[in-house]
Amino acid sequence: MSRVIVEPELPFEPPANEFHAITARAVQKVYWTASGPVEAVAEANFEIDSGDFVAVLGPSGCGKSTLMLMVAGLEPTTSGVITLDGQPVTGPQTTAGMMFQDPTLLPWRSVLDNVLFPVSMCRPIMPDDRKRAEHLLHMVDLWQFRDKRPRELSGGMRQRVALARALINDPSILLMDEPFSALDAITRDEMGLALASIWDSTHKTAIFITHSIREAIFLSDRVLVMGRRPSTIIEDIRVPFPRPRKPSVEADPAFNELYLYLKASIVHKPVVQ
Ligand SMILES: Nc1ncnc2c1ncn2[C@@H]1O[C@H](COP(=O)(O)OP(=O)(O)O)[C@@H](O)[C@H]1O
Ligand SMILES: [Mg+2]
Repeated sequence: MSRVIVEPELPFEPPANEFHAITARAVQKVYWTASGPVEAVAEANFEIDSGDFVAVLGPSGCGKSTLMLMVAGLEPTTSGVITLDGQPVTGPQTTAGMMFQDPTLLPWRSVLDNVLFPVSMCRPIMPDDRKRAEHLLHMVDLWQFRDKRPRELSGGMRQRVALARALINDPSILLMDEPFSALDAITRDEMGLALASIWDSTHKTAIFITHSIREAIFLSDRVLVMGRRPSTIIEDIRVPFPRPRKPSVEADPAFNELYLYLKASIVHKPVVQ
């Protein structure tokens, strides 16, 4: 008589990181300065799914930029692990496109050549690269300005060049550290709309640091709030509004409710002395 051996049913546990574009596990960062250690990030834990746009809010000095630099592999973690597409980050990531408050364009290069700059750092420019740069310049509405120098552009236009440049290598993730903070309010709103429409057509996994709660809600699928002392993630909230979004979403009472909730969490929660 044959015996049937029934294996006990084990709960299914996917291998760690399999389904996430970005993960942070117990990430800590301490800077060693002349006046002693500065704990910029005490402990960060999060996962970001592929194609999610995640905004990070928090008071100045709470470690947002440091966290982003660690995701990009430009600062090592003191402890803990960050992964991109399941691979631990151990150095600068070529799969990440980046944008900062300062567009850092090369003044002697044309708009088109600034967009192509990251390619030219790695290899000779091919006709397809040029086509892609021109396509991106159409996307950011700067195609007519492709031969201009940065000094001939407004602040918002320069940031749009920086956005096209960040996308030139078709990065799997887009990391943006307060890219619109230096712009006036109207230009900033226009940039938000431009970024939202580009995201609607590219669906890049993105981390977007901002001080503007409204910008965070309008642009993102999720909002993480970082608190200070200890510097950790104190809120992780999914934004419920369907995409594509129109500016009129701000008139939705649920938008205002979320705005007030996030505002209170930034102002009141972080201080643990
Ligand atoms: N390169 C560095 N060396 C030493 N301390 C730093 C460095 N970068 C940031 N810090 C400190 O780490 C803390 C977090 O800074 P940062 O990540 O820039 O915060 P945020 O972007 O939220 O304003 C601050 O106290 C800041 O002074
Ligand atoms: Mg910062």
